[in-house]
Amino acid sequence: MISKKLESMLNEQMKNEFFSAYFYLSMAAWFTSKNLNGFANWYTVQAQEERDHAKMIMDYVLRVGGNAEFLAIEAPDTNFTSPMDIFEKTLAHEQKVTGMINDLMGAAMDERDFKTQHFLQWYVNEQVEEEENASGLIEKLRISNNSEAGILYMDAEAAARVYTPAVQATT
Ligand code: FEO
Repeated sequence: MISKKLESMLNEQMKNEFFSAYFYLSMAAWFTSKNLNGFANWYTVQAQEERDHAKMIMDYVLRVGGNAEFLAIEAPDTNFTSPMDIFEKTLAHEQKVTGMINDLMGAAMDERDFKTQHFLQWYVNEQVEEEENASGLIEKLRISNNSEAGILYMDAEAAARVYTPAVQATT
């Protein structure tokens, strides 16, 4: 079983992960509209991963006897101005998500809900990678002084990103 409080927080996080997918897909659309198809691929893969993050929460809530709720997903801010603008918004968003995961972990610790802590540890680790990826994009583009050549080089690299379904240890 799971407490009502944690069930509700997990359902909220499921929605937040779907929001992330929505947000990143909107970024993919912006890159597609600018013919930067490598970055469009990178962000499409990112959106697919976010849907996995959401689905894993849904599965967990059901496994521990909770109800999966499907809350309304808000529209993302889609006023993008440049690749750097998108990378910075990605990092800011992931930092926000890290805070949400930390709040969830804190609540599970307060309740001595060890199985939920174990489940959430995957997300704690994942957030390290998510922030690292976004910072990496920013730093790389900075090295090229935000140049067009740098953007094109990174776009070609981003084309190689391949989707692999997230795998989580079972509880
Ligand atoms: Fe689901 Fe980007 O963290």
